[in-house]
Amino acid sequence: LKRLTLKLPHSRCDVWIGAGALARLPGLLQSMFGAPPAVVADRNTARYARGLTGAPIVLPAGEPTKNPRQLFRLWNQFAERRVDRYTPIVAVGGGVIGDLAGFAASTYMRGVPLVHVPTTLLAQVDSAIGGKTAVNLPQGKNLAGTFYQPRLVVIDPETLSTLPEREYRTGLAEAIKYGMIRDRALFERMESNVEKLAARDPKLLEEIIIRCVSIKLAVVRVDEREGGLRMILNYGHTIGHAIERATGYRLTHGEAISIGMNREAEIAVKMGLCPEKVRVRQNALIRAAGLPLEGRVPAEAVRAAMALDKKAKSGKIRFVLPRAVGKVQFPVVVPTHLL
Ligand SMILES: NC(=O)c1ccc[n+]([C@@H]2O[C@H](COP(=O)([O-])OP(=O)(O)OC[C@H]3O[C@@H](n4cnc5c(N)ncnc54)[C@H](O)[C@@H]3O)[C@@H](O)[C@H]2O)c1
Ligand SMILES: [Zn+2]
Repeated sequence: LKRLTLKLPHSRCDVWIGAGALARLPGLLQSMFGAPPAVVADRNTARYARGLTGAPIVLPAGEPTKNPRQLFRLWNQFAERRVDRYTPIVAVGGGVIGDLAGFAASTYMRGVPLVHVPTTLLAQVDSAIGGKTAVNLPQGKNLAGTFYQPRLVVIDPETLSTLPEREYRTGLAEAIKYGMIRDRALFERMESNVEKLAARDPKLLEEIIIRCVSIKLAVVRVDEREGGLRMILNYGHTIGHAIERATGYRLTHGEAISIGMNREAEIAVKMGLCPEKVRVRQNALIRAAGLPLEGRVPAEAVRAAMALDKKAKSGKIRFVLPRAVGKVQFPVVVPTHLL
């Protein structure tokens, strides 16, 4: 198992990554917390909570679960199960369970220990790291949330074997993003192993996850609250989020940001920030990963959605744009005529 550590001024988080990591979880919990955990899972991920003490709190699967009513129900469950400030909350699942249980843990008794056991590729390379928690409101996604670092993250790539194909591919989009923004070698590993990638080769996945997590940890270490560098993680997301909104979330997140990376790379080319061959190479890998480059979305709807982006600063949308494979420039204000 590989262990990575995130040390911040007021917290420390250990991230264990590797096949068989899940089997180590009960021992890690016991040695770190000493108290029995309260486990939160969804119907598809409860199977990965079987080795832990006590019956898990099992929620319905899917994005609609990430709402204030479920948050309230979790607080109630914690109270009924006599969770106290020594009880670790263990979130076993994808980003939905992680964000929701994370929010609940960060607010219950003003904060109880949080452990993430991400079971989707997206959660393993992205959402379980960095300490953002959230629920959705009817008015928009992730509108209420907290920054709250987990104390422990246990990533077992073996859990990915049961992940539906479309969910798996959505995680690959994030891995491609990490390659584009920060890690040419990672990009090239995926580029030269597309068959293994499609076959979910465990060794390759473990390596990819370790690289992605390392990048995210390095970014969060210097910019926990997204005041600067953390913005680079939003490559493909400025347009991608707008596409998600404009299409009523019928695309997966990874599908939307794949289209977003294509379009944002196009803007970079038009602004003279990178040669067309960078975009061609990026898009070839996106396509090889089974992800889309285009979608039928009215441009006007995307533009309108982009104007509502919560990351827009005084009306100006700041883009992260590629210079080369593994290198981005930010923030870039894009001329309106290009949008
Ligand atoms: N906190 C952050 O920094 C951050 C970053 C990115 C995304 N997010 C959030 O993450 C959420 C999306 O996360 P997601 O893509 O993991 O979705 P998800 O949690 O809904 O999981 C996708 C589906 O896969 C199922 N599943 C999960 N693991 C499985 C497994 N091993 N085998 C079989 N089925 C499994 C789930 O039950 C669900 O049906 C969004 O709400 C997004 O806003 C948060
Ligand atoms: Zn994303």
